[in-house]
Amino acid sequence: MSERVYNFSPGPAVLPEEVLEQAREDLWNIGGSGIGVLEHSHRGKLVDSVFAEAKADCRKLAAIPSEYYVLFLHGGASTQFFMLPANFLPKDGTADYLHTGSWSKKAIQEAERYGRVHVAASSEDANFSYIPTGEQTVCSDAPAYVHLTSNNTIAGTQFATEPRVLDGAWLACDASSDIFSRPIDVQKYGLIYAGAQKNLGPAGVTLVIIREDLLSRPAVRELPAMLRYREHADQDSRYNTPNVFAIYIMGRVFKWILANGGLAEIGRRNRAKAKIIYDVLDASSQFKGTVRADSRSQMNVTFRARSEELESLFIAEAEKQGLVGLKGHRSVGGMRASIYNAFPEKGCEALAQLMREFEARHG
Ligand SMILES: Cc1ncc(COP(=O)(O)O)c(C=O)c1O
Repeated sequence: MSERVYNFSPGPAVLPEEVLEQAREDLWNIGGSGIGVLEHSHRGKLVDSVFAEAKADCRKLAAIPSEYYVLFLHGGASTQFFMLPANFLPKDGTADYLHTGSWSKKAIQEAERYGRVHVAASSEDANFSYIPTGEQTVCSDAPAYVHLTSNNTIAGTQFATEPRVLDGAWLACDASSDIFSRPIDVQKYGLIYAGAQKNLGPAGVTLVIIREDLLSRPAVRELPAMLRYREHADQDSRYNTPNVFAIYIMGRVFKWILANGGLAEIGRRNRAKAKIIYDVLDASSQFKGTVRADSRSQMNVTFRARSEELESLFIAEAEKQGLVGLKGHRSVGGMRASIYNAFPEKGCEALAQLMREFEARHG
């Protein structure tokens, strides 16, 4: 099948077509080297330049200050769930976590292996359908760090801004599902991590942006080299053999965002795309959004129909029309439209149109 459909998958997710076309060529022979990108040594000159360009473009894209390292690590965001506390949470220390969904729950469970976790705010009382406000957030006195999940892929909520932290504390952010979907003020964070497979590229690489001074602190415990941020920073993310292909694609995606106007323009487009679907939800008596309006995600729009039967029917009709991947996460049901950076506005319009037609037919 050469035709492509509208892919609403929550991740791995749609990638920019230009990037895929370039990758097709570079898989065979990259940069006139006579060798495909998958076949080059990770310590050769060509891969040196792939890494250097990806890092430079990443810095440019998010205006990352020079005192931050950009790392490409293994093991997905799930590895960051334990690598972060392993490096920064002492056994007798406390880390604050904002509990806003299934992913923060996993992050909390992993942190609890290393030290104390203080849940500074939680929306579990309402099935994670909102983002707690500043008033609802009570941090501990001297947290090792404060962790948030900027976008909750399953619940469909997103922080509008960074939570404020006390002087001396620093923010650690799981930005897996909204990294580089809008402007970001990197200086507000000590560490940002994101599995690539939603907004940045294929699975198999995790982008980590980490402030230099955190790497110079005395270690809180003995760790294997692969788990030490310091080691990866010193070895330019090549302590061992990295996933060169995923890093190459991520670099190409950075270039694509830059060529499309950077984060401000991507943010504008993402707002417009999400609005197309939220407008239908607001006007509908058949479909209903599952989260509070002020907490809506611009990446994952979650909604329900009047009955589970109608939901199954809607998902089946959508698939027939080439709108795929709309089934909600198995833990929450309903529908979820994941509309990351590379997802086209036309796809949002097609979904909105189908929702309106479906409602006209089924009330
Ligand atoms: C917000 C968030 N954090 C973490 C993860 C886990 O990522 P990984 O599969 O890369 O470990 C996901 C995956 O969907 C996610 O959406």
